Amino acid sequence: MKKTFKPTGSPVWEELALHRQSLENISLKQQFSINPDRFNELHTSGAGLILDYSKNLITKDTVGLLVKAAKSLQLQDKIDALFNGEDVNSTELRPALHTALRDSSGSGPYHTEICQVLDKMTNIVQQVHTGQWKGATDKTITDIVNIGIGGSHLGPMMVTNALHSYGVGNVACHFVSNLDSVDIYSVLNKVEADSTLFIICSKSFSTLETLQNARTARVWLESKLPIGQKDYGKHFLAVTENLKKATEFGIPEENVLPMWDWVGGRYSLWSAIGISIALSIGMENFNDLRKGAEQMDLHFKSAPFEKNLPVVLALLDIWNVNYWESHSHGVIPYVHHLRYFPEFLQQLEMESNGKSVSVTNETLTYQSASVTWGTVGTNGQHSFHQLLHQGTKFIPIDFIFELTPINDAHHSHLVSNCLAQSNALMNGISYDEIKQELLNAGVAIDDAHKKAMHRHMSGNKPSNTLVIDSLSPQSLGSLIALYEHKVFVQSVVWNINAFDQFGVELGKVMSKQVYDTLTSKKSDTKFDSSTEGLITLYKSSIK
Ligand code: F6P
Repeated sequence: MKKTFKPTGSPVWEELALHRQSLENISLKQQFSINPDRFNELHTSGAGLILDYSKNLITKDTVGLLVKAAKSLQLQDKIDALFNGEDVNSTELRPALHTALRDSSGSGPYHTEICQVLDKMTNIVQQVHTGQWKGATDKTITDIVNIGIGGSHLGPMMVTNALHSYGVGNVACHFVSNLDSVDIYSVLNKVEADSTLFIICSKSFSTLETLQNARTARVWLESKLPIGQKDYGKHFLAVTENLKKATEFGIPEENVLPMWDWVGGRYSLWSAIGISIALSIGMENFNDLRKGAEQMDLHFKSAPFEKNLPVVLALLDIWNVNYWESHSHGVIPYVHHLRYFPEFLQQLEMESNGKSVSVTNETLTYQSASVTWGTVGTNGQHSFHQLLHQGTKFIPIDFIFELTPINDAHHSHLVSNCLAQSNALMNGISYDEIKQELLNAGVAIDDAHKKAMHRHMSGNKPSNTLVIDSLSPQSLGSLIALYEHKVFVQSVVWNINAFDQFGVELGKVMSKQVYDTLTSKKSDTKFDSSTEGLITLYKSSIK
């Protein structure tokens, strides 16, 4: 007997469980044929985005019940608490105020500090773009290298790529995150030392990967700059909460932009962590990105839950995870510029909601975040879509496409593929249909049976489709904020803290212990035989 998903004592969860039972044999194909108005009834829009959620295993009653459940959790109060700067990060006792970073009302929290940093960013962008910013040898800046990882990398990297067509200022933007030195050297090999500006993005300024790459960049710069002109400080900017460590590294204080403890790493692209975005697309476009996010914030705060995009998207995922047992969901943008969006969402969703203890300190008795994965369409169609169509797993998908791209000569083909995939996942093709076609074509009955067995597709696979008018700073801002808020709503339903990430700490400690042993520094740590065996193997390979 399956356990009912019951995050609180409210009877609404039982209602939902009973409703789920009543939909055991729901056929999406049939739902569309009996209700020609299904699309009109089951789509919503806000902040320039349209969400078609009609291809989910739901009826109108499902949405009503899910909204009732959300209301039973005082979701509106929780949303207000998020925006008002209450300590929603309950384990670290601090707010999560990424929304303040795009609040143009003038009365939001930390307004003065935020404006000061935006002014400083504007000044830096202007200096670099006009050639006033000079390196140690008086050369202007042609290349920017953002060194960071996780939230100090994924957001800026994803947005800069997504808004490539909006580039201004003629500076090439490079991103380095991985500890594998191939990453940094592949960039160093194509830039000139005297015209390169490194931006060290690290909230803590103590992340191993970022510091190691920053040191490598510093050594490289020192080796390349001519004798007597080694003022490498002119080639470094830092964005960090840890001014002391940044200046100890050798970055002049005036080149350090602040971060605050009330902005989580994976929510930080709106802060000075976004300086590489601003350098790549200009401050005006960066502000439009913030404006788009603010529009989604306003929608999220005020739209009725039934029409509220982040709320609906979150509740549908809860429906799939906690009532239909999905363990993963795919995000497939049919927008090449959004090719890093699934990777960005992986951190946002899984680092935020990959938790198994509630805010009230109990082990969860139900599933929380599922695995987020995906890639750009149409590429996925020629690899993993086979499993989506005919595999044994239940995997809901978010499709994304844009109506009017700035520049895509193949656009109708691209959109047709996107719509065809969600349609094929939903409708499938029956054994009988295929068999009949084969028989009509004169295939013998035995053969027709075998072929139909392998070719039929059950369909009934759920998906959402998000439609963007045109990918722009503003629409991208709305899209990112949509998922940020989706994650928050889910954390409320699962009763978990979306804003800490203690799960990443143990590996960091262990890595230090392994490193000490690998490099034969004194280490008292005794490892298991597998780790010891692999350490011995590694040591014996060092010439
Ligand atoms: O290790 C995980 C993490 O702490 C992320 O949460 C964060 O985005 C990333 O590392 C980088 O941290 P920092 O900006 O402090 O270098």
